[in-house]
Amino acid sequence: MRVLGLETSCDETAAAVVEDGRRALSDVVSTQVDIHRRWGGVVPELASRNHVVQVAKSISAATGLPLLGVNHLEGHLLAARLLPTPPEPPFLALVVSGGHTSLYAVEAYGRHRRVGSTRDDAAGEAYDKVARLLGLPYPGGLPIDRLAQAGDPRAIRFPRALNVPGVYDWSFSGLKTAVRNHVRSHGVPEGQALADLCASFQEAVADSLSRKLVAAARELHQTDVVICGGVAANSRLRALTLERAGEREIRVHLPPPALCTDNGAMIAVAGTEAWRRGERGDGQPVVDAGWTP
Ligand code: KG4
Ligand code: ZN
Repeated sequence: MRVLGLETSCDETAAAVVEDGRRALSDVVSTQVDIHRRWGGVVPELASRNHVVQVAKSISAATGLPLLGVNHLEGHLLAARLLPTPPEPPFLALVVSGGHTSLYAVEAYGRHRRVGSTRDDAAGEAYDKVARLLGLPYPGGLPIDRLAQAGDPRAIRFPRALNVPGVYDWSFSGLKTAVRNHVRSHGVPEGQALADLCASFQEAVADSLSRKLVAAARELHQTDVVICGGVAANSRLRALTLERAGEREIRVHLPPPALCTDNGAMIAVAGTEAWRRGERGDGQPVVDAGWTP
């Protein structure tokens, strides 16, 4: 079975063909970030999620192929199915993106329970807001990640919120405020100071995400964890989680960075799974489907 997955956000459109829910035969992303940058922000007319549904409907009408709408978060989670050795439930899944930071206990594909989430900003949102404070391009995750490589993560001690045993919730707005206050009193840093600030901010995010993920796995008796969503592409989050989970003999399943950020392949996999479950769909995007953000 070959499935065409289409995904669009306000600044990117992606398409992929996936065979049997396991092999991506093609996978492309077209970005409008440059267009938006020229206009100084997201241009609504150029950026409509509605648009891609219309395109999908037209393809479906023209070819007679069935059209299924799938949930975006389920797509992120199912990107892990494209790994050479896909994780088998039960496992814990951290979905960490521009709009979500949530932890789910996945009992089976399609059956999950939320065990934690952010109480304010999503981690990716914090990256994007901090990048803006520092005058870095949007989206801010990758530029900060790159600058952080040359920085000292201990240069500035930023706060870790909700550092309480048994609590698997996060809060990133205090961290964002701490960065803002730092910039207010020291000015927007350049050179080494900029790298140090990026590394220190990144350390705070990666530390709190990985610490709670591994603690939750231990306390909820899970042997496997999956990290997915755009922020799962983050180099420090990946390294620190592998290190901490390794000490506890917990397996970490990390889709490659291109399958963490929004892509068509993850949507095709989710569509394949939905089809296999017997869903035939009306082509409408599935907004919740049991996913509490
Ligand atoms: O999943 P995604 O592509 O879109 C949403 O569903 O939101 O996630 C986008 C988010 C953005 O906030 C972006 O800054 C962040 O993921 N991101 C990263 C990295 N790459 C993308 N954050 C940290 N490190 C990265 N390397
Ligand atoms: Zn996403």
